[in-house]
Amino acid sequence: ARGYQKSTHGRADVPPLAFAFDIDGVLLRGPNTIPAARRALAMLEGANPTGRKIPYILLTNGGGTSEQARCQKLTDQLGFKIDLHQFVQSHTILKSVVHRYTDSPVLVLGGRNDDVRKVAEGYGFKQAYTTLDVLAWNPAVWPFHDLTPSERESTKTVDFSKTPISAIFVFHDPRNWALDIQIICDVILSRGIIGAPQGTRLSNYGRRPPDLIFCNPDVLWGSDFPRPRLGQGAFRIAFQAVYKTLTGSEYYDVQYGKPTEATYRFVKQVLKDRFKDLYGDAAVRLPNIYMVGDNPESDIAGANAAGWSSVLVHTGVYDPQQGPPAHEPTHQARDVEEAVKWAIEREL
Ligand code: G3P
Ligand code: MG
Repeated sequence: ARGYQKSTHGRADVPPLAFAFDIDGVLLRGPNTIPAARRALAMLEGANPTGRKIPYILLTNGGGTSEQARCQKLTDQLGFKIDLHQFVQSHTILKSVVHRYTDSPVLVLGGRNDDVRKVAEGYGFKQAYTTLDVLAWNPAVWPFHDLTPSERESTKTVDFSKTPISAIFVFHDPRNWALDIQIICDVILSRGIIGAPQGTRLSNYGRRPPDLIFCNPDVLWGSDFPRPRLGQGAFRIAFQAVYKTLTGSEYYDVQYGKPTEATYRFVKQVLKDRFKDLYGDAAVRLPNIYMVGDNPESDIAGANAAGWSSVLVHTGVYDPQQGPPAHEPTHQARDVEEAVKWAIEREL
């Protein structure tokens, strides 16, 4: 074991390892905190043989609220301060692309009412609209849903026949898949002008096809229900199946979230910044990173591809009774506490 390295500028010494924790199925099950989570974080906050802190971040395919709000809630749920520099959720990466769309009308999908619009505006999107805005503009867009009073209250008045949509961002899990699939198809097939008459030649608009961006590929995830739930990845499959039936091919989309390379590249920079904050410039070379996750398709696949060590826990999506995982982890553990103990013993 390498032990701690002397750091520069009289900062704390640099530890030989750091952790990236998945949230759903590792630290939480729905609204409930997994008991092993508090014990695992206590070890990293100093209750370990060295008595020193071991840094960690949280890396989730979840989303739907601002990073600030989620960090506050996680601090309450986990019993330790989780600050912004320790937290990456599915759509955090969109902060690095918003500059391309700042003044263009975009649709932002997922979550309750206009929660995700507020997140998008916090990132810098100046014209972020929801599918509820579209339904409020023209209820005939989807005759099978009447806006609830709270949904109506969340809408903006927009004339979408004069508001060309340049991109669609699926921030979080859509609540009304039918409405959202219908409107994504409308936007794409009318080159951004929702409600353009059926026969209009799309090239008349001389507009480029709208971008379609998803932030979480999870087909399944571990909630507080005994069996895994369908996630945003399942919504994407449903949309692409409908679109292919209508047009003969799937629509080109951009996928972020674990296990995509883009998200792990983004997270590596977050870790480098965190290490510089904590240990000064000497620590720019990251130590061994341990990713603890419950989903082989996202957490383990992504960590393995990123060159990290991966630990698969049995408290979420993966059920060891179902046979070996689709992606081989460095180690398997009953829960996050056992995972942390194993990694600390291995490195310190
Ligand atoms: O919507 C959240 C779900 O897809 C999985 O979240 O924390 O296990 O990456 P997480
Ligand atoms: Mg998970």
